Amino acid sequence: MSPPRLLIRPLLRPLLRPHLLRPIPIRTLTTTLPRAHTHLTPPPPGEGLKITFIDKDSTHHTFSVCEGDNLLDIAQEYDMEMEGACGGSAACSTCHVIVEDEGMYEKMEEPSDDENDMLDLAFGLTETSRLGCQVKMTKELDGLVVRLPSMTRNLQSSDFSQKK
Ligand code: FES
Repeated sequence: MSPPRLLIRPLLRPLLRPHLLRPIPIRTLTTTLPRAHTHLTPPPPGEGLKITFIDKDSTHHTFSVCEGDNLLDIAQEYDMEMEGACGGSAACSTCHVIVEDEGMYEKMEEPSDDENDMLDLAFGLTETSRLGCQVKMTKELDGLVVRLPSMTRNLQSSDFSQKK
């Protein structure tokens, strides 16, 4: 009586298919440096635009930045308390800032409909509120002063679930 074929086949497989015995090449582990959220390039000496953030404790923080930098990137680069939950896609209101000077506010581009929709959800909305991620520094905005609101509203799906 011969042994069942099903038992012998796995034992013979390496002999029948020698290519399965090839050594598996060892791949080295490669790593890359972790990327920071922002990479703002400091402006050349004497060419920076000034922006001041007023934090929740009313402390003023002034930075020298480049034209084209947006307020969210600046705030996060300098560890100001601005969450930016949606990563700057105008889909939250956690980058809400209040422009201190109405004249400066008038120099900014009009907010888009998306930005206005999100601003409607912002905590402590004012006439000069903007989403920081949507405001880019320009020469006209040199000297801008913005206040960080005392709170931000970060809506999550759990906010809409029924509480027991
Ligand atoms: S970071 Fe979400 S709207 Fe600005």
